[in-house]
Amino acid sequence: MTLLHVQDLRVEFTTPDGNLVAVNDLTFSLVAGDTLGIVGESGSGKSQTAFAIMGLLAKNNHTQGSILFNDLQLLGLPEKAFNKIRAKQIAMIFQDPMTSLNPYLKIGHQLMEVLTLHKGMSKHDAFEESVQMLNAVQIPEARQRMNMYAHELSGGMRQRVMIAMALLCRPQLLIADEPTTALDVTVQAQIMSLINELKKEFSTAIILITHDLAVVAGSCEQVLVMYAGRTMEAGSVNDIFYRPTHPYSQGLLNAIPRLDSQNEYLATISGNPPNLLHLPAGCPFQQRCPHVHNICRITAPPLTAFGADRYRACHWQGDSLEQE
Ligand SMILES: Nc1ncnc2c1ncn2[C@@H]1O[C@H](COP(=O)(O)OP(=O)(O)OP(=O)(O)O)[C@@H](O)[C@H]1O
Ligand SMILES: [Mg+2]
Repeated sequence: MTLLHVQDLRVEFTTPDGNLVAVNDLTFSLVAGDTLGIVGESGSGKSQTAFAIMGLLAKNNHTQGSILFNDLQLLGLPEKAFNKIRAKQIAMIFQDPMTSLNPYLKIGHQLMEVLTLHKGMSKHDAFEESVQMLNAVQIPEARQRMNMYAHELSGGMRQRVMIAMALLCRPQLLIADEPTTALDVTVQAQIMSLINELKKEFSTAIILITHDLAVVAGSCEQVLVMYAGRTMEAGSVNDIFYRPTHPYSQGLLNAIPRLDSQNEYLATISGNPPNLLHLPAGCPFQQRCPHVHNICRITAPPLTAFGADRYRACHWQGDSLEQE
């Protein structure tokens, strides 16, 4: 069953230097219980896509398109109605846990508040449920931790508290925006395996946002590769990870360290993502693309379907160019 259907989503921001299109005609669906990975470098529009779904875009946004969640149109939904959905049905783990945990309130207070406010639970029940959830995210000595403040916990523990808080109301959809970026590699792996276990236990659908293609390999069914607000390539995790066809996905993949590689140096994609206020005509990736051709500087390649449920936006077709 389709839980979320995003169609032609366009998020534009008004700035003193002109209008900036952060998300450009994005379309994707998510089936209940599945995980979709959204991958792309900094500034590709990943977080703004998440904020659009959560109804949390900055005031200077102009948004078009459609975001259907359980057939309910979220775009333009009044704040009061959105408040009933946020936390209860859609929850989000933000890029930096310190921005969402209140430093002046005890962890327990913050967890219990979610349940007393959204579920009308008594304080006693909310306490017990919160402790249970801290146990579920494998926080040792959960009862004692309820009395602690965020700064008393390690980065990994804080991220676990955030995950616990997000799952308290058993949301149908969890958006995890770079949930492991601030953590060291070992803790990263622990948090990812925890998210995978919780997904099974609570049958939550997940949108996992990351700049690291390696993170999606072990945890997603579908992957969307974004660049300059647009979909470059989309498909199953196996297709994107083992048979990427877009030069940008191929570049991201080559940048992952591999144990089986003989190469001493990692390939990186040369150059930087373009300034969204001054996008070139044609394909946004043209300046960094190893297969750039004249047509790429003139027309932006449309997103086209190929194979089973795969999409790509590129004029280059292996060793030939698409015939326009
Ligand atoms: N309120 C705003 N006004 C103008 N531009 C904005 C605003 N919010 C975000 N942007 C711009 O939108 C673009 C996309 O931002 P977004 O936060 O989605 O990137 P991202 O893919 O999440 O990157 P990162 O990996 O660094 O988190 C960026 O160029 C950003 O500067
Ligand atoms: Mg972001």
